Amino acid sequence: MSQVSERIAALSPSETLAMSQKSNELKEQGIDVINLSVGEPDFFTPDFIKEAAKKAVDENFSFYAPVPGYLSLRKAIVAKLKRENKLDYKPEQIVCSNGAKQSVCNVLLAVVGPGDEVIVPAPYWVSYVEMVKLAEGTNVIVTAGIEQDFKITPAQLEAAITPRTKALILCSPSNPTGSVYSKEELKGLADVLAKYPNIIIIADEIYEHINYVGQHESIARFENIRERVVIVNGVSKAYAMTGWRLGWIAAPQWIASACNKLQGQYTSSPSNIAQKAAEAAYLGSQDCIETMRQAFERRRNLMVKLASDIPGLKVNQPNGAFYLFPDCSAYIGKSFNGKVLANSADLAMYLLEEGHVAAVGGLAFGAPNCVRFSYATADEKLVEAMSRVKKALAVLE
Ligand SMILES: Cc1ncc(COP(=O)(O)O)c(C=O)c1O
Repeated sequence: MSQVSERIAALSPSETLAMSQKSNELKEQGIDVINLSVGEPDFFTPDFIKEAAKKAVDENFSFYAPVPGYLSLRKAIVAKLKRENKLDYKPEQIVCSNGAKQSVCNVLLAVVGPGDEVIVPAPYWVSYVEMVKLAEGTNVIVTAGIEQDFKITPAQLEAAITPRTKALILCSPSNPTGSVYSKEELKGLADVLAKYPNIIIIADEIYEHINYVGQHESIARFENIRERVVIVNGVSKAYAMTGWRLGWIAAPQWIASACNKLQGQYTSSPSNIAQKAAEAAYLGSQDCIETMRQAFERRRNLMVKLASDIPGLKVNQPNGAFYLFPDCSAYIGKSFNGKVLANSADLAMYLLEEGHVAAVGGLAFGAPNCVRFSYATADEKLVEAMSRVKKALAVLE
Protein backbone atom coordinates (compact mmCIF):
# COMPACT_ATOMS: atom_id res chain seq x y z
CA MET A 1 0.00 0.00 0.00
CA SER A 2 1.32 3.41 -0.91
CA GLN A 3 0.90 6.16 1.62
CA VAL A 4 2.61 8.98 -0.22
CA SER A 5 1.38 12.46 0.54
CA GLU A 6 -1.04 14.25 -1.77
CA ARG A 7 1.83 16.57 -2.57
CA ILE A 8 3.91 13.76 -4.04
CA ALA A 9 0.96 11.98 -5.62
CA ALA A 10 0.14 15.17 -7.55
CA LEU A 11 3.70 15.46 -8.87
CA SER A 12 4.46 14.18 -12.40
CA PRO A 13 7.71 12.32 -12.89
CA SER A 14 10.25 14.07 -15.14
CA GLU A 15 9.54 13.15 -18.77
CA THR A 16 13.06 14.04 -19.89
CA LEU A 17 14.63 11.72 -17.33
CA ALA A 18 12.10 9.01 -18.26
CA MET A 19 13.03 9.18 -21.96
CA SER A 20 16.70 9.07 -21.12
CA GLN A 21 16.11 6.00 -18.98
CA LYS A 22 14.07 4.25 -21.68
CA SER A 23 16.83 5.01 -24.17
CA ASN A 24 19.42 3.48 -21.83
CA GLU A 25 17.27 0.36 -21.44
CA LEU A 26 17.20 -0.13 -25.22
CA LYS A 27 20.96 0.44 -25.36
CA GLU A 28 21.45 -2.27 -22.73
CA GLN A 29 19.54 -4.63 -25.04
CA GLY A 30 22.22 -3.94 -27.65
CA ILE A 31 20.16 -1.50 -29.74
CA ASP A 32 22.11 1.40 -31.18
CA VAL A 33 20.04 4.31 -29.89
CA ILE A 34 21.08 7.91 -30.49
CA ASN A 35 20.10 9.87 -27.43
CA LEU A 36 18.94 13.40 -28.18
CA SER A 37 16.81 13.57 -25.06
CA VAL A 38 19.34 14.83 -22.56
CA GLY A 39 19.77 18.42 -21.48
CA GLU A 40 23.47 18.61 -20.89
CA PRO A 41 26.63 19.59 -22.73
CA ASP A 42 28.62 16.63 -24.07
CA PHE A 43 31.93 18.29 -23.10
CA PHE A 44 34.09 17.45 -20.13
CA THR A 45 34.50 19.99 -17.35
CA PRO A 46 37.56 22.14 -18.19
CA ASP A 47 40.80 21.00 -16.52
CA PHE A 48 41.46 24.15 -14.52
CA ILE A 49 38.10 23.72 -12.80
CA LYS A 50 38.81 20.07 -12.01
CA GLU A 51 42.21 21.06 -10.60
CA ALA A 52 40.56 23.56 -8.24
CA ALA A 53 38.28 20.80 -6.95
CA LYS A 54 41.21 18.43 -6.37
CA LYS A 55 43.02 21.18 -4.50
CA ALA A 56 39.96 21.76 -2.33
CA VAL A 57 39.97 18.08 -1.36
CA ASP A 58 43.67 18.20 -0.50
CA GLU A 59 43.27 21.41 1.45
CA ASN A 60 40.53 19.85 3.59
CA PHE A 61 37.51 21.84 2.56
CA SER A 62 35.59 19.15 4.35
CA PHE A 63 33.72 21.03 7.05
CA TYR A 64 30.23 22.52 6.85
CA ALA A 65 30.24 25.67 4.76
CA PRO A 66 27.96 28.69 5.31
CA VAL A 67 24.41 27.84 4.13
CA PRO A 68 24.41 30.23 1.11
CA GLY A 69 27.95 29.19 0.10
CA TYR A 70 31.45 30.43 0.88
CA LEU A 71 31.82 34.20 0.87
CA SER A 72 34.67 33.81 -1.65
CA LEU A 73 32.32 32.06 -4.10
CA ARG A 74 29.55 34.61 -3.59
CA LYS A 75 32.10 37.39 -4.20
CA ALA A 76 33.17 35.66 -7.41
CA ILE A 77 29.51 35.55 -8.50
CA VAL A 78 29.06 39.23 -7.61
CA ALA A 79 32.10 40.01 -9.76
CA LYS A 80 30.69 37.92 -12.62
CA LEU A 81 27.36 39.78 -12.43
CA LYS A 82 29.21 43.09 -12.59
CA ARG A 83 31.58 42.04 -15.37
CA GLU A 84 29.15 40.24 -17.64
CA ASN A 85 25.74 41.65 -16.79
CA LYS A 86 26.57 45.14 -15.51
CA LEU A 87 24.53 44.45 -12.39
CA ASP A 88 25.42 45.38 -8.81
CA TYR A 89 24.75 42.91 -6.04
CA LYS A 90 26.10 42.36 -2.54
CA PRO A 91 27.36 38.89 -1.52
CA GLU A 92 24.42 38.71 0.94
CA GLN A 93 22.06 38.71 -2.02
CA ILE A 94 23.57 35.54 -3.47
CA VAL A 95 22.42 32.11 -2.31
CA CYS A 96 24.18 29.07 -3.79
CA SER A 97 22.35 25.77 -3.97
CA ASN A 98 22.59 22.27 -5.44
CA GLY A 99 21.83 23.50 -8.95
CA ALA A 100 19.63 26.04 -10.68
CA LYS A 101 16.84 23.50 -10.29
CA GLN A 102 16.96 23.78 -6.51
CA SER A 103 17.31 27.55 -6.78
CA VAL A 104 14.06 27.88 -8.76
CA CYS A 105 12.32 25.63 -6.26
CA ASN A 106 13.74 27.57 -3.29
CA VAL A 107 12.41 30.84 -4.68
CA LEU A 108 8.96 29.41 -5.42
CA LEU A 109 8.74 27.87 -1.94
CA ALA A 110 9.89 31.17 -0.47
CA VAL A 111 7.34 33.40 -2.18
CA VAL A 112 4.38 31.28 -3.35
CA GLY A 113 1.60 29.89 -1.17
CA PRO A 114 -1.90 28.44 -1.59
CA GLY A 115 -4.02 30.56 -3.89
CA ASP A 116 -1.07 32.39 -5.42
CA GLU A 117 -0.83 32.33 -9.19
CA VAL A 118 2.42 31.93 -11.09
CA ILE A 119 2.54 32.86 -14.75
CA VAL A 120 4.46 30.28 -16.74
CA PRO A 121 4.96 30.95 -20.43
CA ALA A 122 4.58 27.76 -22.51
CA PRO A 123 6.49 25.95 -23.87
CA TYR A 124 8.11 25.72 -20.43
CA TRP A 125 10.85 23.74 -18.77
CA VAL A 126 9.10 20.68 -17.32
CA SER A 127 10.04 21.31 -13.71
CA TYR A 128 8.54 24.81 -13.32
CA VAL A 129 4.92 23.68 -13.25
CA GLU A 130 5.69 20.81 -10.89
CA MET A 131 7.55 23.13 -8.52
CA VAL A 132 4.64 25.57 -8.50
CA LYS A 133 2.43 22.62 -7.50
CA LEU A 134 4.88 21.74 -4.72
CA ALA A 135 4.58 25.30 -3.44
CA GLU A 136 0.78 24.87 -3.55
CA GLY A 137 0.47 27.66 -6.07
CA THR A 138 -1.60 27.71 -9.26
CA ASN A 139 0.04 27.63 -12.69
CA VAL A 140 -1.28 30.17 -15.16
CA ILE A 141 -0.02 29.03 -18.54
CA VAL A 142 0.45 31.58 -21.31
CA THR A 143 1.06 29.87 -24.61
CA ALA A 144 3.31 31.09 -27.42
CA GLY A 145 3.47 28.89 -30.51
CA ILE A 146 6.17 28.56 -33.13
CA GLU A 147 4.54 31.32 -35.24
CA GLN A 148 5.58 33.82 -32.54
CA ASP A 149 8.94 32.13 -32.06
CA PHE A 150 7.61 30.65 -28.80
CA LYS A 151 7.84 34.06 -27.06
CA ILE A 152 4.97 35.69 -25.20
CA THR A 153 3.98 39.27 -25.97
CA PRO A 154 3.43 42.07 -23.45
CA ALA A 155 -0.30 41.96 -24.24
CA GLN A 156 -0.46 38.23 -23.47
CA LEU A 157 1.38 38.79 -20.22
CA GLU A 158 -0.91 41.60 -19.16
CA ALA A 159 -4.02 39.56 -19.97
CA ALA A 160 -2.81 36.79 -17.64
CA ILE A 161 -2.20 39.05 -14.64
CA THR A 162 -4.78 38.98 -11.85
CA PRO A 163 -4.76 40.34 -8.28
CA ARG A 164 -3.49 36.89 -7.22
CA THR A 165 -0.45 36.86 -9.53
CA LYS A 166 2.61 36.33 -7.36
CA ALA A 167 5.33 35.57 -9.86
CA LEU A 168 6.35 35.17 -13.48
CA ILE A 169 8.94 32.61 -14.54
CA LEU A 170 10.87 33.72 -17.59
CA CYS A 171 13.47 31.48 -19.21
CA SER A 172 15.73 33.03 -21.84
CA PRO A 173 17.51 31.44 -23.65
CA SER A 174 14.78 28.86 -23.31
CA ASN A 175 14.63 25.19 -22.67
CA PRO A 176 12.87 23.62 -24.61
CA THR A 177 12.56 26.09 -27.51
CA GLY A 178 15.98 27.74 -27.74
CA SER A 179 14.22 31.09 -28.14
CA VAL A 180 15.94 34.20 -26.84
CA TYR A 181 14.08 37.38 -25.88
CA SER A 182 15.70 40.48 -27.36
CA LYS A 183 16.33 43.57 -25.25
CA GLU A 184 13.28 45.27 -26.83
CA GLU A 185 11.07 42.26 -26.13
CA LEU A 186 12.24 42.17 -22.51
CA LYS A 187 11.57 45.88 -22.21
CA GLY A 188 8.01 45.32 -23.41
CA LEU A 189 7.47 42.73 -20.67
CA ALA A 190 9.22 44.88 -18.06
CA ASP A 191 6.97 47.84 -18.89
CA VAL A 192 3.90 45.72 -18.20
CA LEU A 193 5.37 44.32 -14.97
CA ALA A 194 6.27 47.82 -13.80
CA LYS A 195 2.54 48.47 -13.44
CA TYR A 196 2.10 45.55 -11.03
CA PRO A 197 4.53 46.08 -8.15
CA ASN A 198 3.69 42.85 -6.30
CA ILE A 199 4.84 40.46 -9.01
CA ILE A 200 8.21 38.72 -8.53
CA ILE A 201 10.09 37.98 -11.74
CA ILE A 202 12.08 34.74 -11.67
CA ALA A 203 14.57 35.00 -14.54
CA ASP A 204 16.11 31.61 -15.32
CA GLU A 205 19.35 32.50 -17.10
CA ILE A 206 21.07 29.12 -16.92
CA TYR A 207 21.63 29.15 -20.72
CA GLU A 208 23.05 32.69 -20.64
CA HIS A 209 26.26 31.75 -22.40
CA ILE A 210 24.78 29.45 -25.01
CA ASN A 211 23.55 32.30 -27.10
CA TYR A 212 23.94 32.86 -30.86
CA VAL A 213 22.77 36.46 -31.07
CA GLY A 214 25.50 38.16 -29.10
CA GLN A 215 25.40 39.51 -25.60
CA HIS A 216 22.93 37.98 -23.14
CA GLU A 217 20.21 40.39 -22.04
CA SER A 218 18.93 40.12 -18.48
CA ILE A 219 15.51 41.44 -17.54
CA ALA A 220 17.14 42.55 -14.27
CA ARG A 221 18.72 45.41 -16.25
CA PHE A 222 15.42 47.30 -16.32
CA GLU A 223 15.37 49.84 -13.50
CA ASN A 224 11.58 49.88 -13.26
CA ILE A 225 11.41 46.27 -12.03
CA ARG A 226 14.96 45.53 -10.85
CA GLU A 227 14.14 45.26 -7.17
CA ARG A 228 11.70 42.42 -7.91
CA VAL A 229 13.84 40.29 -10.21
CA VAL A 230 15.48 37.09 -9.02
CA ILE A 231 18.20 35.87 -11.36
CA VAL A 232 18.69 32.10 -11.38
CA ASN A 233 21.93 30.83 -12.84
CA GLY A 234 24.70 28.32 -12.22
CA VAL A 235 27.66 26.52 -13.67
CA SER A 236 25.92 23.48 -15.20
CA LYS A 237 25.55 24.56 -18.80
CA ALA A 238 28.18 27.29 -19.23
CA TYR A 239 31.08 25.25 -17.85
CA ALA A 240 29.86 21.71 -18.64
CA MET A 241 29.36 20.99 -14.93
CA THR A 242 25.89 19.45 -14.77
CA GLY A 243 26.89 16.72 -12.32
CA TRP A 244 28.68 19.06 -9.93
CA ARG A 245 25.33 20.47 -8.79
CA LEU A 246 25.99 24.13 -8.21
CA GLY A 247 23.46 26.87 -8.92
CA TRP A 248 22.64 30.22 -7.38
CA ILE A 249 20.26 33.13 -7.17
CA ALA A 250 20.94 36.85 -7.15
CA ALA A 251 17.89 38.25 -5.45
CA PRO A 252 16.31 41.09 -3.50
CA GLN A 253 17.57 40.78 0.08
CA TRP A 254 14.28 39.55 1.53
CA ILE A 255 14.09 36.68 -0.97
CA ALA A 256 17.76 35.78 -0.51
CA SER A 257 17.22 35.72 3.28
CA ALA A 258 14.11 33.56 2.88
CA CYS A 259 15.96 31.06 0.65
CA ASN A 260 18.85 31.03 3.10
CA LYS A 261 16.41 30.20 5.91
CA LEU A 262 14.76 27.47 3.84
CA GLN A 263 18.07 25.91 2.83
CA GLY A 264 19.30 26.12 6.41
CA GLN A 265 16.60 23.66 7.43
CA TYR A 266 16.65 21.58 4.31
CA THR A 267 19.91 20.99 2.48
CA SER A 268 22.44 23.44 3.97
CA SER A 269 25.10 24.58 1.52
CA PRO A 270 25.93 22.77 -1.71
CA SER A 271 29.04 20.56 -1.65
CA ASN A 272 32.20 22.45 -0.71
CA ILE A 273 34.16 20.80 -3.50
CA ALA A 274 31.63 21.91 -6.11
CA GLN A 275 31.72 25.39 -4.60
CA LYS A 276 35.49 25.65 -4.94
CA ALA A 277 35.26 24.35 -8.51
CA ALA A 278 32.59 26.94 -9.34
CA GLU A 279 34.67 29.70 -7.79
CA ALA A 280 37.56 28.74 -10.07
CA ALA A 281 35.18 28.68 -13.05
CA TYR A 282 34.05 32.26 -12.41
CA LEU A 283 37.51 33.61 -11.62
CA GLY A 284 39.50 31.78 -14.30
CA SER A 285 39.78 32.18 -18.05
CA GLN A 286 36.40 32.24 -19.77
CA ASP A 287 37.77 30.91 -23.09
CA CYS A 288 36.20 27.47 -22.56
CA ILE A 289 32.73 29.04 -22.74
CA GLU A 290 33.36 30.45 -26.20
CA THR A 291 34.84 27.18 -27.49
CA MET A 292 31.72 25.27 -26.42
CA ARG A 293 29.38 28.00 -27.63
CA GLN A 294 30.90 27.85 -31.10
CA ALA A 295 30.45 24.07 -31.25
CA PHE A 296 26.80 24.46 -30.22
CA GLU A 297 26.23 27.15 -32.83
CA ARG A 298 27.66 24.94 -35.57
CA ARG A 299 25.39 22.10 -34.46
CA ARG A 300 22.40 24.43 -34.26
CA ASN A 301 22.96 25.39 -37.90
CA LEU A 302 23.32 21.74 -38.83
CA MET A 303 20.14 20.70 -36.98
CA VAL A 304 18.04 23.49 -38.47
CA LYS A 305 19.21 22.42 -41.93
CA LEU A 306 18.57 18.71 -41.31
CA ALA A 307 15.15 19.23 -39.72
CA SER A 308 14.06 21.72 -42.40
CA ASP A 309 14.72 18.98 -44.90
CA ILE A 310 12.07 16.73 -43.33
CA PRO A 311 8.69 17.24 -45.01
CA GLY A 312 5.94 18.52 -42.71
CA LEU A 313 8.12 19.69 -39.82
CA LYS A 314 7.79 23.36 -38.88
CA VAL A 315 11.18 24.54 -37.69
CA ASN A 316 12.20 27.82 -36.11
CA GLN A 317 15.72 29.12 -35.73
CA PRO A 318 16.64 28.73 -32.06
CA ASN A 319 18.97 31.53 -30.96
CA GLY A 320 20.24 29.91 -27.79
CA ALA A 321 20.49 26.79 -25.58
CA PHE A 322 20.99 23.45 -27.38
CA TYR A 323 17.52 22.33 -28.35
CA LEU A 324 15.49 22.22 -31.52
CA PHE A 325 11.75 22.17 -30.95
CA PRO A 326 10.02 21.50 -34.28
CA ASP A 327 6.25 21.52 -34.56
CA CYS A 328 5.28 18.03 -35.68
CA SER A 329 1.52 18.58 -36.05
CA ALA A 330 1.68 17.10 -39.55
CA TYR A 331 2.52 13.68 -38.09
CA ILE A 332 0.29 13.67 -35.03
CA GLY A 333 -2.78 11.54 -35.66
CA LYS A 334 -0.93 9.40 -38.19
CA SER A 335 -0.42 5.72 -37.50
CA PHE A 336 2.14 2.97 -37.63
CA ASN A 337 1.01 -0.65 -37.98
CA GLY A 338 -2.51 0.48 -37.17
CA LYS A 339 -1.49 2.24 -33.94
CA VAL A 340 -2.41 5.93 -33.89
CA LEU A 341 0.18 8.41 -32.62
CA ALA A 342 -2.25 10.58 -30.71
CA ASN A 343 0.15 13.19 -29.36
CA SER A 344 3.78 14.21 -29.21
CA ALA A 345 4.54 11.75 -26.39
CA ASP A 346 3.36 8.88 -28.64
CA LEU A 347 5.39 10.33 -31.49
CA ALA A 348 8.55 10.52 -29.36
CA MET A 349 8.02 6.92 -28.21
CA TYR A 350 7.61 5.84 -31.84
CA LEU A 351 10.81 7.64 -32.84
CA LEU A 352 12.62 5.84 -30.04
CA GLU A 353 11.22 2.36 -30.64
CA GLU A 354 11.22 2.36 -34.44
CA GLY A 355 13.76 5.03 -35.35
CA HIS A 356 16.08 4.45 -32.39
CA VAL A 357 16.37 8.15 -31.69
CA ALA A 358 15.51 9.39 -28.22
CA ALA A 359 13.81 12.79 -28.10
CA VAL A 360 11.20 14.21 -25.72
CA GLY A 361 7.56 14.78 -26.60
CA GLY A 362 6.46 18.38 -26.19
CA LEU A 363 3.40 17.47 -24.11
CA ALA A 364 5.53 17.60 -20.95
CA PHE A 365 6.69 21.10 -21.93
CA GLY A 366 3.14 22.34 -22.51
CA ALA A 367 3.48 22.06 -26.30
CA PRO A 368 1.55 18.96 -27.39
CA ASN A 369 2.51 19.24 -31.08
CA CYS A 370 6.26 19.62 -30.70
CA VAL A 371 9.18 17.31 -30.02
CA ARG A 372 12.41 18.40 -28.35
CA PHE A 373 15.70 17.30 -29.85
CA SER A 374 18.85 18.14 -27.90
CA TYR A 375 21.82 18.78 -30.17
CA ALA A 376 24.47 18.62 -27.46
CA THR A 377 26.15 15.73 -29.20
CA ALA A 378 28.63 15.02 -32.00
CA ASP A 379 27.82 16.34 -35.50
CA GLU A 380 27.92 12.89 -37.13
CA LYS A 381 25.45 11.56 -34.59
CA LEU A 382 23.11 14.44 -35.38
CA VAL A 383 23.29 13.67 -39.09
CA GLU A 384 22.54 9.99 -38.50
CA ALA A 385 19.78 10.72 -35.97
CA MET A 386 17.91 13.12 -38.24
CA SER A 387 18.23 10.73 -41.16
CA ARG A 388 16.58 8.06 -38.97
CA VAL A 389 13.86 10.49 -37.93
CA LYS A 390 13.19 11.37 -41.56
CA LYS A 391 12.87 7.70 -42.52
CA ALA A 392 10.70 6.84 -39.53
CA LEU A 393 8.32 9.74 -40.21
CA ALA A 394 8.11 8.90 -43.91
CA VAL A 395 6.51 5.50 -43.25
CA LEU A 396 3.69 6.86 -41.08
CA GLU A 397 0.26 6.60 -42.66
C1 LIG B 1 15.75 25.96 -17.98
C2 LIG B 1 16.54 25.20 -16.99
N1 LIG B 1 16.67 25.69 -15.75
C3 LIG B 1 17.37 25.05 -14.82
C4 LIG B 1 18.00 23.84 -15.10
C5 LIG B 1 18.72 23.14 -13.99
O1 LIG B 1 20.05 23.37 -13.98
P1 LIG B 1 20.98 22.75 -12.84
O2 LIG B 1 21.73 21.62 -13.45
O3 LIG B 1 21.89 23.87 -12.45
O4 LIG B 1 20.11 22.32 -11.71
C6 LIG B 1 17.90 23.29 -16.36
C7 LIG B 1 18.52 21.99 -16.66
O5 LIG B 1 18.18 21.29 -17.57
C8 LIG B 1 17.15 23.99 -17.34
O6 LIG B 1 17.03 23.51 -18.58
